[in-house]
Amino acid sequence: MSGTNGTHSGGPDPCVMVLFGASGDLTHRKLIPALFEASRRGWLPERFALVGVSRTAMTDDEFRERVWPTEKGKRIDAKEWGEFAQRLHYFAGDAGDPAMYAALDTHLGGIGVKSGVSAPGCSPNILFYLSVAPELYEPIIGCIGESGLVTEGRRWCSINPGAAPWQRIIVEKPFGSDLASAESLNRALGRVFEEDAIYRIDHYLGKELVQDILVLRFANSIFEPVWNRGHIDHVQVTAAETLGVGTRAGFYDHAGALRDMVQSHLMQVASLVAIEPPSEYNAAAIMRERIKLFSSAVPIPRERAPEWAALGRYGAGPDGPAYVNEKGVDPARGTETFAAMRVEFQNWRWSGVPFYLRSGKRLAAKVTEVVIQFNRPPTNIFRRLGPGAEPEDGNRLVIHVAPGEGLSLMVYGKVPGQEMRIAHTELELDYTERFGGEALEAYGPLLVDAMRGDRTLYKHRDEVEGSWRICQPLLESRRLHGAIEEYAPGSWGPRGADELLSRDGRKWHNPGGQPDGAGA
Ligand SMILES: NC(=O)c1ccc[n+]([C@@H]2O[C@H](COP(=O)([O-])OP(=O)(O)OC[C@H]3O[C@@H](n4cnc5c(N)ncnc54)[C@H](OP(=O)(O)O)[C@@H]3O)[C@@H](O)[C@H]2O)c1
Repeated sequence: MSGTNGTHSGGPDPCVMVLFGASGDLTHRKLIPALFEASRRGWLPERFALVGVSRTAMTDDEFRERVWPTEKGKRIDAKEWGEFAQRLHYFAGDAGDPAMYAALDTHLGGIGVKSGVSAPGCSPNILFYLSVAPELYEPIIGCIGESGLVTEGRRWCSINPGAAPWQRIIVEKPFGSDLASAESLNRALGRVFEEDAIYRIDHYLGKELVQDILVLRFANSIFEPVWNRGHIDHVQVTAAETLGVGTRAGFYDHAGALRDMVQSHLMQVASLVAIEPPSEYNAAAIMRERIKLFSSAVPIPRERAPEWAALGRYGAGPDGPAYVNEKGVDPARGTETFAAMRVEFQNWRWSGVPFYLRSGKRLAAKVTEVVIQFNRPPTNIFRRLGPGAEPEDGNRLVIHVAPGEGLSLMVYGKVPGQEMRIAHTELELDYTERFGGEALEAYGPLLVDAMRGDRTLYKHRDEVEGSWRICQPLLESRRLHGAIEEYAPGSWGPRGADELLSRDGRKWHNPGGQPDGAGA
């Protein structure tokens, strides 16, 4: 059971996970492999079962066959898989139909007893997971509420709260498509679940190095004194992909880069760079800081949205058609595949320091990184020594999130020799090389956290609404969406993105030494 701070130091509780969307892509590609890996590492509770729910008729064995994961192109060893697969069960039904839930309840009771999660006549702990289309979230939450499956357990505090079963729910992204829909979804959740039973997943927060940002900032004492407007010129967060929309056009065309990446993942990454020191590493303290930060964002005036953001869409290239000609894309929607925006936090630490966020498809490199650009030295004492003896810029700390998790710090040094020449170089730290270990898919640890009642890496209601509030004027701006530029695949996006920074006298740090301003 979790403490009042939402962070749990113990192991995961026995539970039955009810996975809505069991026949879908996310289940097969991410969730089952993540659970299997967690089981292999001994992270899952000993008493655990999963009940997959979707409409397709399947037996338990057919479901197990369908979700059997592969490793390096080959199916997982049958013996290893078979043992784990025995924990997987299937229940066919329409999750939007309230009538289904009585039978599901009975089924869960049976599975709970069979798997040792609960005693006969008692309800098991239940972890719901919504891995269905977002339109189904509210109907399913409503049905769960009406079904009586949520017993409120600890909510009205029985004498021994630990003895009552819990019910928690993990909600996949997208969490709303704008501020109003996110608020509506939060209200729907709040009618059925307590806030501390709601797990809004953002798998970016499960990525190692995103957590490492907090360790870097708060386990070291050398960074925090310079981590502010006095020393930092600006911050960049980039998440770039080389691939196009692929087979996910149906989903992506309704979302676009601003909703799919910037509002959710990049805003969260930026928040970890920008929050004040939490009192402790726990969910409640970190969430409080993130909420406070988002509420300090300078509101973007809708009529001036093009000064705060730039949108783009990839054109045709050797690797595929232009976005508008991709299968499943409706050109009339005018969806963007690239978004860059500026965010400013008006607080004592960051006032006047812009955060530039950008993300796009079919860009020059697959990379996710955070760049902390420090100020130039206040004066250049080498100026009289002529060319070659002048630092070009301030120091730059790059936090590599993926691929290759690590840090590089750009510093200047004297080139050995008679002449006074200054050159920049990178101090590199590769986390895996240095510390060993391996990067894990984010889903496994996040799922286990939910079973432990630890929400540290999940999002609070107010955070989600806070980040939508920041982006809402951009979503509503006709001028911004009317000015979507086409960019060349393999470039770093549209010219407008470069102009967003050049207007401020800055430029993007493009990893891999690609030229700046490679617009179409
Ligand atoms: N795929 C990804 O990589 C990814 C990444 C991040 C987030 N997400 C999010 O995760 C969710 C699922 O994505 P997905 O790609 O797995 O979608 P998907 O492949 O289309 O799967 C949707 C699932 O929902 C089930 N379903 C549809 N209507 C149902 C109903 N009335 N009752 C019960 N089950 C129903 C479908 O099964 P039946 O047709 O058999 O009912 C299927 O199992 C979406 O919200 C998506 O945005 C996906």
